[in-house]
Amino acid sequence: MTKTKESWGSRIGLILAMAGNAVGLGNFLRFPVQAVQNGGGAFIIPYLVCFLLMGIPLLFIEWSSGRYGGRFGNHSTPYILDTMTKGRVLKYIGVFGIFTNIAVAAYYAYIESWTMSYVVHSLKGTFSGMDQSQVADFFLSYTDVLHSTTGIPFEAVIFYILCLAINVYVLSKGLGGVEKVAKIGMPLLIIFGVILAVRGLTLGTSGASEIFPDANAWDGLNFLWTPQYESILDLKVWMAAAGQIFFTLSVGMGTVHCYAAYVKSKDDIALNAVSAGFMNEFIEVVIGSSIVIPIAAGYLGMDWVMENAGFGMAFQTMPYLFQQWGPVFAAIAGVMWFGLLFFSGITSSLAMGTPCVSFMQDEFGWNRKKGAWAFGLVTLIMGLPTVFFFGEGVFDEYDYWAGTVSLVVFAMMETILFSWVFGLNKGWREITMGADIKVPGIYRYIIKYITPVILIVVFLGTVFAPKANDWSGNIRSLFSGNGWPLDNMSIINKITNVGLRQQLADATDPEQIRVLQDNLFAVNMARGFLSALLLFILILIYVSYKKRVREGRVTSV
Ligand code: PHE
Repeated sequence: MTKTKESWGSRIGLILAMAGNAVGLGNFLRFPVQAVQNGGGAFIIPYLVCFLLMGIPLLFIEWSSGRYGGRFGNHSTPYILDTMTKGRVLKYIGVFGIFTNIAVAAYYAYIESWTMSYVVHSLKGTFSGMDQSQVADFFLSYTDVLHSTTGIPFEAVIFYILCLAINVYVLSKGLGGVEKVAKIGMPLLIIFGVILAVRGLTLGTSGASEIFPDANAWDGLNFLWTPQYESILDLKVWMAAAGQIFFTLSVGMGTVHCYAAYVKSKDDIALNAVSAGFMNEFIEVVIGSSIVIPIAAGYLGMDWVMENAGFGMAFQTMPYLFQQWGPVFAAIAGVMWFGLLFFSGITSSLAMGTPCVSFMQDEFGWNRKKGAWAFGLVTLIMGLPTVFFFGEGVFDEYDYWAGTVSLVVFAMMETILFSWVFGLNKGWREITMGADIKVPGIYRYIIKYITPVILIVVFLGTVFAPKANDWSGNIRSLFSGNGWPLDNMSIINKITNVGLRQQLADATDPEQIRVLQDNLFAVNMARGFLSALLLFILILIYVSYKKRVREGRVTSV
């Protein structure tokens, strides 16, 4: 068994890699959309509260659990939890720390691959002369892989495979490779981001657009930054804020544990955790909010943004808006925008690959190269359905189960284990050991009582999400004896496909019925793939445990 003594080359390398893990597509694409859909200034307060009461505590928990596990040669969540809890079954909870990463990487790398091809198309001038709807149609054609006419045949598939290959190549170089990409990618993305943000902030209050003369870039900023205190009572906004904090900080995934397991056992984690967390917040809240929203508001008006806010804005709208700056600047802006998205994406997808590579290395003595290839292959198998059935909803299904539910479930369980099974006294010692800052004592209480309660509430809120997210309506309904109508996005209705089945029952047009049946098929297929992956990793953990028993390396009782 090779006991790896691998560790980070330098502190700055570690912080940039960790910040790179957190800073991702979520900062530039998901945050602005969440903020707009949840009332702009109404969103920011719950968001910041969730950051302080849930995000920071989870970072402390995950960094300290990781470093603790690393001390015993364990670098992925199954055996990190095993060393912490000494329980036979609890290591199986760690399955999430590998499963979620592969499942998220499968669809995340697909978006990452779009950014690569959009850099190429920006350089080639593909978008020049296109109007808004042509740019939007380009995206639809690109993602309709079998019938795409955007360039080379199967372009989306080719870029997807290329993107995975780049990830595998870097992962096979070990932590040094990850560190190098972070050291190049992070500064570049900040520079590109700042330039685009300055452009967004200086578009001015009128006259940018001929079609929408009233469009005003500042409307976007005012909308985001005017606090609205009444939102504090709206649980829907809180749920969205909590979800965004999970996704953006990459907590509840197992990636932070894995990176932290390579920190030397006496080195600081407290300051590192806070630095990487705040760097992510700066890039999200300051830079992330100053690009898509103000630029789109400046040309198309805030009403348009409110109606069209969504993932597609980045790909279906930005290339068109850049055209307004003339062909040369359009190409430069396109390269900067999609380049920054690419760097933010790759530093995150590398983090998703590491736990899998480390697990195979720790348990089966594989070298990094073999582990990296195995990760690439499994991710490819999981990812191809998202590529070929993008329009049918496989992508969204992965995002729901792996990118949302799984994070909440794992975060809730690991927090309870940390505070109540490992025990907060030991936990606090781990957090503060070697710390280069004084961690405020109040976090002892927050981690023990407040964070677990918030996580349980968020979990229950996901299982029983009320119809149309109308919490107050549902609470009234409950008290007046009319029960708790569930939303179709609640876990319960989702499992039983209530939404799709209802639509199918209501549909009359044969074409529409066919589309819905395809969706139902795609959704079930996605779940089949996800369940198979979960089972496969559980079996690997079981086999590795038997192997440890045979080799007399069992730490649990
Ligand atoms: N935090 C990354 C983002 O904001 C996404 C991510 C999620 C990365 C989970 C790793 C783990 O895009």
